[in-house]
Amino acid sequence: MKENKAKLLLSKSSLEFLPRLSEYLGGAKIFIKRDDEGGRSGGGNKLRKYERIIGDAIATNCDTLIIAGHFQSNAARELVGSACQLGLKSIVVCKELIPNQNEIFLKNGNALLMNLMGAELVTINKNDDFTKAMQIVAEQITEKGGKPYIIPFGGSNLLGSLGYVDCLNEIKEQAEIETDYIFTPIGSGGTQAGLIAGVVKNNMKTTVIGVSVLHKKEVAQKIVEELANETLKFLSSENTSLGKVFIDDNYIGEGYGITTEESIETIKLLAKLEGIFLCPVYTAKAMTGLIEYVKSGKIKKDENIIFIHTGGSPLIYAYYDKLFE
Ligand SMILES: Cc1ncc(COP(=O)(O)O)c(C=O)c1O
Repeated sequence: MKENKAKLLLSKSSLEFLPRLSEYLGGAKIFIKRDDEGGRSGGGNKLRKYERIIGDAIATNCDTLIIAGHFQSNAARELVGSACQLGLKSIVVCKELIPNQNEIFLKNGNALLMNLMGAELVTINKNDDFTKAMQIVAEQITEKGGKPYIIPFGGSNLLGSLGYVDCLNEIKEQAEIETDYIFTPIGSGGTQAGLIAGVVKNNMKTTVIGVSVLHKKEVAQKIVEELANETLKFLSSENTSLGKVFIDDNYIGEGYGITTEESIETIKLLAKLEGIFLCPVYTAKAMTGLIEYVKSGKIKKDENIIFIHTGGSPLIYAYYDKLFE
């Protein structure tokens, strides 16, 4: 199959050692893969996924990208930015997915960035169905002579997952020591699925731990397993044995987008120790998991971990009332 890839990322993201966090936890060596850096519109993990998804949209002559999201969606902000970068149109079908939304939440962070980029938002009610709403928007575009392309949920289909096989291949090149664990936050699952497919294809021993911020473990496990298998099949991998898919759903707290006390502490810790900003919805919860794994000895002192910083830092501004001391 010919690969259609839109160029959204101009360079590899860096892999950095976190000496102060490693020392503070007194255990494993912790590295961070900076997928929050690079690319336009604020960066983040969706850019890797969109390279092939938008590449497919362009190859099929589509001119308008449609995505489902919420007012603080990283996925939507990155899509709008990618559309600007490539000269395409985009529409965000938006609904309130995170409770207790205040003025700041609706006008700062990703909402502000989308507004600056002139994003077109179609707002639907909380109980309305995203898929139906996106189809209606697509029909309206077609009626006006446009060619719509619906982005899969969270960019998590085969094309999106291949973006994280790219990430794993970069890690393989960059890492100077054996990687025992990779930690990543997971929502729709494509990031972890791609990383696992990369590990299996490259016959590596690394365990990829997905810290779920959305789905319960069983649901996430099924999604990730299916997508990782589909990706390995597409890659014609000789090794097809996924082994156990590790998902931890203990850090979700009360729900998606709702901060926990521990995740707020984690944001402050990483900022103070390393000058790294995590996001309240995804990376802070995943890093809280990593910290507990090291502190509790689940990960041994002589092991190495890579944390994928999947982005989302604009969310800090939307949650500033939970963070400012
Ligand atoms: C910052 C950040 N981290 C992680 C994720 C989850 O990635 P995935 O949907 O591939 O599981 C997202 C998805 O929106 C995200 O914005």
